[in-house]
Amino acid sequence: MDDSTWPWAGIARLVLHSDNGEASGSSIDVSTLPTDALSVEQMELFRSWLSDHETVRAERFLHAEDRRDFVAAHALLRLQLRHHFSELPFPARIGADGQGGKPRLLAGHDSDGAAVDFNISHTRGMVACVTAGDHDVGIDCEPLARTVDAGLAEVCFSELECRWLKTQSSLTPSSAFLHLWTLKEAVTKALGTGLAIDLKTFSVLPFPPRIMEPSPEIGAHRRWSFRQWVSNDGFIVAMAARSRNGQPEHL
Ligand SMILES: CC(C)(COP(=O)(O)OP(=O)(O)OC[C@H]1O[C@@H](n2cnc3c(N)ncnc32)[C@H](O)[C@@H]1OP(=O)(O)O)[C@@H](O)C(=O)NCCC(=O)NCCS
Repeated sequence: MDDSTWPWAGIARLVLHSDNGEASGSSIDVSTLPTDALSVEQMELFRSWLSDHETVRAERFLHAEDRRDFVAAHALLRLQLRHHFSELPFPARIGADGQGGKPRLLAGHDSDGAAVDFNISHTRGMVACVTAGDHDVGIDCEPLARTVDAGLAEVCFSELECRWLKTQSSLTPSSAFLHLWTLKEAVTKALGTGLAIDLKTFSVLPFPPRIMEPSPEIGAHRRWSFRQWVSNDGFIVAMAARSRNGQPEHL
């Protein structure tokens, strides 16, 4: 399979370090794929990697762009899993385990498969994917040009986060909101609860992205690592990772 002609920058491998600065042996792979320029042939290939269940789900989208992005996200995940875990069968079999609905590798994968965690996000024009072996991971992407209703902040954010929003004079209100929101959603997706968790029970802040007020569900802030960036084509992406072994690790 020749992926050199695809409109993507490939997969970035983030290596984690222990407190003493040495590589800890853990890594997290992250990639994004802009979808507007995907060709008919690429989409055909992507569709062939999906399960029957995913194909049925894709057909439910009313808009062709949303269907394309769903297919691209699920295909990118297969591609990235093969890159990160070469021993996994391709295309990997994926399904939700019922606990909060976070998708996992389905039974049938070997014992290494049980340690694998991954997450995807799709928004019109962009998909993002994260994979890891020793971390619970979540990712979110949103168009930075999106206009957000300022009243939502009171609903979604803690007091600390609302105070931070009010002091951001160099960002538009919507951009400041999305910097917080994507981080927060990435954390909930790493946990596997999604938005079912009470979003006000913990706080995150960007620049640099970090947990400020941990909760029992979130765990110690030193277990968390983040990446947040804005792509050339105007999407904001946030990745959150919580180490499983309880040891602090840093990107
Ligand atoms: C998961 C959730 C945060 C997705 O948010 P979103 O911005 O719409 O979508 P994104 O594109 O960023 O992510 C979607 C992907 O997250 C993954 N996902 C689904 N449930 C998840 C969970 N509980 N934890 C982590 N990831 C999850 C899936 O891979 C999904 O992709 P798919 O729908 O193509 O299979 C949100 O739908 C949610 O919280 N769901 C679970 C809780 C819930 O349904 N609550 C409703 C009542 S509060």
